[in-house]
Amino acid sequence: MAETYPITDHHFDCVVVGAGGSGLRAAVGMVEAGLRVACVSKVYPTRSHTVAAQGGINAALGNMNEDDWRYHMYDTVKGSDWLGDQDAIEYMTKNAPAAVLELEHYGAPFSRTPEGKIYQRAFGGQSTNYGKGQAYRTCCAADRTGHVLLHTLFQQALRHKVQFFNEFYALDLLMEDGACLGVLALRIEDGSLHRFRAHVTCLATGGYGRVYFSATSAHTCTGDGNAMVLRAGLPLQDMEFVQFHPSGIYGAGCLITEGARGEGGYLTNGDGERFMERYAPTAKDLASRDVVSRAMTIEINEGRGCGPQKDYIELHLEHLDPKLLHERLPGISETARIFAGVDVTKQPIPVVPTCHYNMGGIPTNYRTEVVRPVDGDPDAVVHGLMAVGEAACASVHGANRLGANSLTDLVVFGRAAAHRAAELVQPGAPHKPLPSGACERALDRLDKVRHASGDLRTGEIRLAMQRTMQRHASVFRDGPLLDEGCRRLDEVAASLDHLRVEDRSRIWNSDVIEALELQNLMLQAIATMRSAAFRTESRGAHAREDFPERDDANWMKHTLCWVDDRHRAQLGDRPVHSYTLTNEVQPVPPQKRVY
Ligand code: FUM
Repeated sequence: MAETYPITDHHFDCVVVGAGGSGLRAAVGMVEAGLRVACVSKVYPTRSHTVAAQGGINAALGNMNEDDWRYHMYDTVKGSDWLGDQDAIEYMTKNAPAAVLELEHYGAPFSRTPEGKIYQRAFGGQSTNYGKGQAYRTCCAADRTGHVLLHTLFQQALRHKVQFFNEFYALDLLMEDGACLGVLALRIEDGSLHRFRAHVTCLATGGYGRVYFSATSAHTCTGDGNAMVLRAGLPLQDMEFVQFHPSGIYGAGCLITEGARGEGGYLTNGDGERFMERYAPTAKDLASRDVVSRAMTIEINEGRGCGPQKDYIELHLEHLDPKLLHERLPGISETARIFAGVDVTKQPIPVVPTCHYNMGGIPTNYRTEVVRPVDGDPDAVVHGLMAVGEAACASVHGANRLGANSLTDLVVFGRAAAHRAAELVQPGAPHKPLPSGACERALDRLDKVRHASGDLRTGEIRLAMQRTMQRHASVFRDGPLLDEGCRRLDEVAASLDHLRVEDRSRIWNSDVIEALELQNLMLQAIATMRSAAFRTESRGAHAREDFPERDDANWMKHTLCWVDDRHRAQLGDRPVHSYTLTNEVQPVPPQKRVY
């Protein structure tokens, strides 16, 4: 190692890595349970990507019409294309109403009905009575729901005196004999190193959308927790399932909420046709996201796109009452003006499917404990390690997430993590000594990056990776395209050996942080491409043109993918939990998905 790195030690009962919706909710609950909690976050908490969530949070409150958590569960299983774990889906949908009411009591300023109830809008893939009617299940605060949720939870975290370590970049997990003992982090402000010992380490580090060239995710969405899990020798799950949101602004990638269609917006092709009527005769523009994104891509690929290049679709809101747009969709009206130059009261918005969400991530059970297969047990728990939010794969979204189930996932499982930590951890229990050299690998990696003197800048390698992912692992895939993608990605990954970092200082070194983030992204790009090549069927967001049908006989199972430091991938699988948690509901048997 070129330099020595002194380390400051911190001792807590629990450490939560990430301060978005799930991390904050977990931290608040852990403090409520009497535990000492550190929250370590790469960004200031209110800059976490949860802030960008627009349309809302699903819970069967039934404020607009009849609803029931069992209908929510049915829709979620169907939306997941039967890859979701039904015990976890039952847990989420049953606990969603209480989690939303808790947010209301915390002070979240939800939009209201004239009677003063929480306003709920329609979103894709929602039904009442097991597919028979249209549900209105998405609770919202205009189109800034994530913003209000994040600020509300941050206020609660401050009130509960969660100890924040803001702008600390988590480098790696501290592992011994397969159990997690904490996390090593770099303080970005001064480059100092900090070792957080904890009986429970809860990863709430978000998704890795930035492996793609065009994504609605923030630039900070680099899946740092997922990569730490891979470096700890643990697998990620279902990484081939990447959600493309139907309405990213053409050219800019910014999100236009599905709530726009929930409030009455609709899509047209270059012939002015409302084409969704052909693809999903009942749900039309409110079919689930994978269905709409595929339909849009087919229209464009078959020459029926809009504009001079026929390469986008138009989203119409101009027929809606300007008062409604002002009240319910103010954020996207502004986004459309700034990023597409469009006045939504007069013109349609040009949109294309854009990478939005990772269904895959760190495998967990419904209690948020990380699992991996050991000695024939597919659900063996990794002691001391939990994961929540987009980083986790519980798996409530299976092959495709329904719109507005993400915020539900954050708060329900953030709360579940706190409950489980309270059962597992004795407040103030002593920590066993760390094995010598527990941080060596991480420090060696940091040191190599700080002194990297090759001829390729981080941005060049990142762009090559993002273009490869966009081209080879997009809405539609097939064997030759994916095989070529694997080959190209191997070349791009190998080019990391030629990385150049200019800034060698310790103070606010964004050059080093971006290089470390790129290493993390690369592991996940490989896991995504390899898992996609592995799964020879079409299910949810994974659409293989060479295997167009869902194949329950061979593929109703979760993909596992390990990627080592040399970027070599290994694949495996785990069974789907096609059973429920209680006898309050029956499992939803597999059917063909019709919208
Ligand atoms: O369209 C949206 O507002 C996004 C919501 C979500 O991804 O859940």
